[in-house]
Amino acid sequence: MTDNYAVFGNPVEHSKSPAIHTAFAAATGEDITYQKQLVDEGAFAEAADKFFSAGGKGLNITVPFKQEAYSYAAKLTARARHAGAVNTLSLQDDGTVLGDTTDGVGMVRDMTENLGWEIKGKKVLVLGAGGAVRGVLEPLLELLPQHVVIANRTIDKALQLSKGFAEMGYLLGCGFDMLPGQQFDLVINGTSASLAGELPPLPDDLLMGGAVCYDMMYGSEPTVFMNWAQQHGASSVADGLGMLVEQAAESFAIWRGTRPETQEVITALRGQ
Ligand code: ATR
Repeated sequence: MTDNYAVFGNPVEHSKSPAIHTAFAAATGEDITYQKQLVDEGAFAEAADKFFSAGGKGLNITVPFKQEAYSYAAKLTARARHAGAVNTLSLQDDGTVLGDTTDGVGMVRDMTENLGWEIKGKKVLVLGAGGAVRGVLEPLLELLPQHVVIANRTIDKALQLSKGFAEMGYLLGCGFDMLPGQQFDLVINGTSASLAGELPPLPDDLLMGGAVCYDMMYGSEPTVFMNWAQQHGASSVADGLGMLVEQAAESFAIWRGTRPETQEVITALRGQ
């Protein structure tokens, strides 16, 4: 029997998730459909109830519903609880809905498996302190970086995040004005500044020799952060397309119990 899945978002028109999951299903022989559904703001729970009552097996959740999905889930995985957000809902055998988040594990898998970057023992800088950053801190800290500095325009949010995850590793929160004089091996842009073509104020000598830079955003063109990284000596620069495919693969594995290969899908999306 065919099992039904979907992504809920607003907007959702340009979501690549249906194409990614359809490719995974074809490659693994899993009998599923995967649709995108535009959900009105304020109507998330109603739409999710309707989806699961109609026999739907699982949902991906994108902007702006990740917090609502967190509240909607009857049970949460530990990593979803720490992230404060849910991007994957799964119908359980007992009829309840489990909430999980795969964004963070998707990002670190892209860095370590696809890009071959080492994180253990490295000095890491994360730019931004919003939901996207909160979602990736736990899997990042699990790889034992030497330390993680979270720099944010609103300093208080960086301080709160660094306190919230303090038990998981060595974390420091600060404003961008504290960056001069510091150098890093890995810089991750988790701000939404790229969307507006903007860049947080970064010192020219921020990158150590051999440093690598990752933008959690992606687009048809390199982001302003990626251009900055290239101009300031980064040895490797990547956008978040691989993260998108890897978080999808993790959701697929949760739902279907089989992990799809990602490389071909990343290459195909890159070519579009
Ligand atoms: P998301 O879920 O994508 O993380 P968010 O929670 O609204 O969205 O967080 C956006 C992040 O991008 C925040 O860290 C924000 O900084 P503030 O906390 O000071 O608002 C950051 N951001 C957005 N535009 C920015 C800009 N032009 N320069 C620097 N930081 C920016």
